[in-house]
Amino acid sequence: MNDIVKITSVKKESADTKTFEFKMDGKATAGQFVMVWIPGVDEIPMSLSSTGETKSITVKAIGEATKALHELKKNDNIGIRGPYGNGFKTKKKDRILVVGGGVGIAALIPLIRETGADTVIGARNKKEVIMEDETKKYSKNVWVSTDDGSYEYHGNAVQLMKEKLAAKKYDMVVACGPEVMLYYAHKECAELGIECQMSLERYMKCGAGLCGSCVIDGMRICEDGPVFDCKQISKLKEFGKIKRDPSGAKVSL
Ligand SMILES: Cc1cc2nc3c(=O)[nH]c(=O)nc-3n(C[C@H](O)[C@H](O)[C@H](O)COP(=O)(O)OP(=O)(O)OC[C@H]3O[C@@H](n4cnc5c(N)ncnc54)[C@H](O)[C@@H]3O)c2cc1C
Ligand code: FES
Repeated sequence: MNDIVKITSVKKESADTKTFEFKMDGKATAGQFVMVWIPGVDEIPMSLSSTGETKSITVKAIGEATKALHELKKNDNIGIRGPYGNGFKTKKKDRILVVGGGVGIAALIPLIRETGADTVIGARNKKEVIMEDETKKYSKNVWVSTDDGSYEYHGNAVQLMKEKLAAKKYDMVVACGPEVMLYYAHKECAELGIECQMSLERYMKCGAGLCGSCVIDGMRICEDGPVFDCKQISKLKEFGKIKRDPSGAKVSL
């Protein structure tokens, strides 16, 4: 689908993060993303934070396009292409622990809604914790970590994840967040022999497998991902270390 849609609501999640709802026909699955065109500015990838008839994206303002998106109001138009990517693949019997760091929790909400999985939310501090109430609507257990200890568990999301995995209640971790968090979460899962699926990010242009700008070790994040499992991630030498800038040059993460 490739369409201009009207923003139907804007919700402030924190000082720098907002959720934008819009109506879009067609099926989307948990973990898929759309390319969002902000008229006159740029087109950028955003995970869907709702996948029903009313869909949503949850956007952290970090640069030109995301800041311009934050200026938009109800009834303003944006362009949407997609949904793209593979999404999460889970089975009913999987005992899942979801781990969302920063704005990464937004991409996991559709999966949490479908599975009711227990969830760890990680943030730098209390003010940056987002979507806790939304998560609590679906997850039986929601635990929050803050790096500075200003709310709930004092430590990072991976430390809290390790504590929860020690109870041996889970056989799969599903995660989205900063790559440094995913790097250590993957390391832990690999050591413990626990299945994992993680949503990765790279700079994207086409979003549809054509341009090669999102490649990591020969895999296109937009087409082969953005969700990769533990075994696939173990083979990615650039994971946690190198990304590509808009010109395609490799730079340190
Ligand atoms: C599949 C996918 C799903 C995403 N889902 C979300 C989401 O749900 N919510 C959300 O807020 N963001 C999400 N992002 C990241 C988002 O696309 C970028 O933040 C956005 O493109 C930045 O655009 P900008 O013009 O505002 O910033 P720019 O001015 O382009 O960049 C500002 C800074 O952010 C860095 N940056 C740019 N793009 C990325 C990226 N893809 N990953 C990490 N750092 C980047 C730049 O290197 C620069 O340092 C997703 C990215 C991908 C690939
Ligand atoms: S963004 Fe073009 S191939 Fe992935």
